[in-house]
Amino acid sequence: MTKVVDENFQIADLFSLSGKTALITGGSSGLGLVMAKGLLQNGAKVVIASRRQKKCDLALKELKAYGEVYALATDVTQVDSREKLLEFIDDKLGSLSILLNNAGANWGAPLEDYPDEGFAKVMDTNLNAVFSLSRDAVPLLSKAASVEDPARIINIGSMDGIHVPIVQRVPTFAYSASKAALHHLTKAMAVELAPKQITVNAVAPGFFESRMTDYVFEHYLNDIKDDCPLHRVGQPQEIVGIVTYLASKAGSYTNGAVIPVDGGTSISKGQRDWMP
Ligand SMILES: NC(=O)c1ccc[n+]([C@@H]2O[C@H](COP(=O)([O-])OP(=O)(O)OC[C@H]3O[C@@H](n4cnc5c(N)ncnc54)[C@H](OP(=O)(O)O)[C@@H]3O)[C@@H](O)[C@H]2O)c1
Repeated sequence: MTKVVDENFQIADLFSLSGKTALITGGSSGLGLVMAKGLLQNGAKVVIASRRQKKCDLALKELKAYGEVYALATDVTQVDSREKLLEFIDDKLGSLSILLNNAGANWGAPLEDYPDEGFAKVMDTNLNAVFSLSRDAVPLLSKAASVEDPARIINIGSMDGIHVPIVQRVPTFAYSASKAALHHLTKAMAVELAPKQITVNAVAPGFFESRMTDYVFEHYLNDIKDDCPLHRVGQPQEIVGIVTYLASKAGSYTNGAVIPVDGGTSISKGQRDWMP
């Protein structure tokens, strides 16, 4: 049996991403951009991939100050686009230590008006594309994987995949369902890919400021804080911290976990005074 014990580890090495390569889907804005900055500052080479070229270019300009970074305009729901992305990574990085499935979409509407195409779009982006990209990235991930330091797939789920969201007031049926399914997919793929030394975990964030949360922050920020036992929203570094743990040697033995980063919101139940 391979011995993996290293009793003389240095704490800085434990959390370092030096020498690692990472892909962050949806890395041009919001949480993806924040994570890209964090991974670069910690020594990883990074590729970001989002649909809009202009946003990719702007993000790339900003990220270049932090390390070796590339961007490719990509739609993760399109097979051709995903293929080009994996070829690009092979060309620029040669292997992939960390696949961060972060690109996401949402759709809110009352039940009677909720359109099939909205439901399908959210499922395609948040679930189907994650499955397809992860499956097709296995050869590149395998090149970076070892017993001592497995390759990592990190899926950005949501606390809304753990509980039924109450503060939005505009129901987001597909979003919650897609994230719950993503959490379970995470576990199924963790079992499947472990023999290849690839771990699969999910982070389930609560509320963080981004384009996706603009509307609810503007209208319901007090309710959001009220609903959270810590009475605040998340800060960017609190996502970077958990992802750094999962991507580094510190997280090598964590596999199939869904980790809430939501100040305890998903485990608290409250009757708010505005609720019927
Ligand atoms: N912010 C929160 O409070 C929160 C809470 C829980 C979970 N999350 C999750 O965190 C992730 C990031 O969201 P965010 O809050 O940072 O929102 P955001 O700022 O809207 O970021 C979403 C990113 O995904 C990209 N994207 C969307 N569809 C895509 C597609 N088909 N192909 C490639 N890229 C695509 C977007 O760029 P383009 O539009 O240019 O493609 C954008 O870069 C999502 O999975 C979201 O569900 C966020």
